[in-house]
Amino acid sequence: MVLDAYKRPVRDLRISVTDRCNFRCTYCMPLDEYEWIHKKEILTFEEITRLATLFIALGVEKIRLTGGEPLVRQNLDGLVGKLSAVKGLKDLCLTTNGALLAEKVEALKQAGLRRINVSLDSLDRDKFRRMTKRGDLDKVLEGIFAAKSHGLYPIKLNAVIERGVNEDDILPLVEFSREHGFGMRFIEYMDVGNANNWTSEKLVPKKEIIAKIDSRYPVKEIGRAQGSAPSVDYEFVDGRGDIGVIASVTEPFCSSCTRVRITADGKIVTCLFSAVGHDVKALLRSGASDEEILTLLSSIWIKRADRYSQERLEALRDASYDPKSHKKIEMISLGG
Ligand SMILES: C[S@@+](CC[C@H](N)C(=O)[O-])C[C@H]1O[C@@H](n2cnc3c(N)ncnc32)[C@H](O)[C@@H]1O
Ligand code: SF4
Repeated sequence: MVLDAYKRPVRDLRISVTDRCNFRCTYCMPLDEYEWIHKKEILTFEEITRLATLFIALGVEKIRLTGGEPLVRQNLDGLVGKLSAVKGLKDLCLTTNGALLAEKVEALKQAGLRRINVSLDSLDRDKFRRMTKRGDLDKVLEGIFAAKSHGLYPIKLNAVIERGVNEDDILPLVEFSREHGFGMRFIEYMDVGNANNWTSEKLVPKKEIIAKIDSRYPVKEIGRAQGSAPSVDYEFVDGRGDIGVIASVTEPFCSSCTRVRITADGKIVTCLFSAVGHDVKALLRSGASDEEILTLLSSIWIKRADRYSQERLEALRDASYDPKSHKKIEMISLGG
């Protein structure tokens, strides 16, 4: 087991399989044009599986496939099949915008996928389109119900809440998830990347989200799964399901963060708010042995001293935080 500078182990690996996306969510990647990663720079399924296997040797237990939009990567079920067969992996999950889910869920299930997270910020068609710029709510709902009918469980729905945009959607989303047995996860709007022009005024804090839900459907806090999950979970007092809130801005969880990311072009990123990644693709493609790659991966982790959200909260409190002065990798590149 390797530990970083703050004695945190590496447990969760997020793999961005592509930086491409069929949506342009205003809070993530609103730009139509962007400097996309060249095809030949993108890791192959074999390269991803090799890195994943080495990370498991270092302590990783869970893998999440993400992006960009992971389902725009051709034959993603092939990767799911390879990763499902890796010894020592306890959990494999996928985060998707759901647009292509209905047509792909069968192959993903067959390949070994058991659970899924789908982003869903509003149940209002027009607002959904405005927030995603290209998304069709009906296609996403079709995907979510296709996942349900194929027996994927749990199905968690992620909603980013943005001030003045979709606070009014919190209760309808709660009602929808309770009615259909989905786990709703609300995410504080974060200053990830630079393209979204984040300001703290756009943030709806966790406290406010919970108060709104609790006033209509009383909830009881149950805490973080495994003590290190990003979401603080709550169960409904009436026993009908649970919700969670990911509050990276107002209640940072850096001290228990065990997550590492691989970008689609083979860079290791040790924090969601990092400005740079560490290239492993060059070594991977140079014919290096597993031992050599393991040495590089563990040296990256051992040096890790990230506590960005904690520092941001301190700076927000004394009003010295300027998001524009921090150049960060876009979410679409590093894998949300
Ligand atoms: C970057 S996306 C990638 C996977 C897939 N395309 C999707 O949308 O689910 C992963 C998650 O990050 C969330 N996200 C993106 N930008 C965000 C931001 N600025 N603040 C909070 N969450 C964000 C999305 O809502 C989504 O749930
Ligand atoms: S949140 Fe997901 S769907 Fe939306 S632009 Fe980012 S990567 Fe694409």
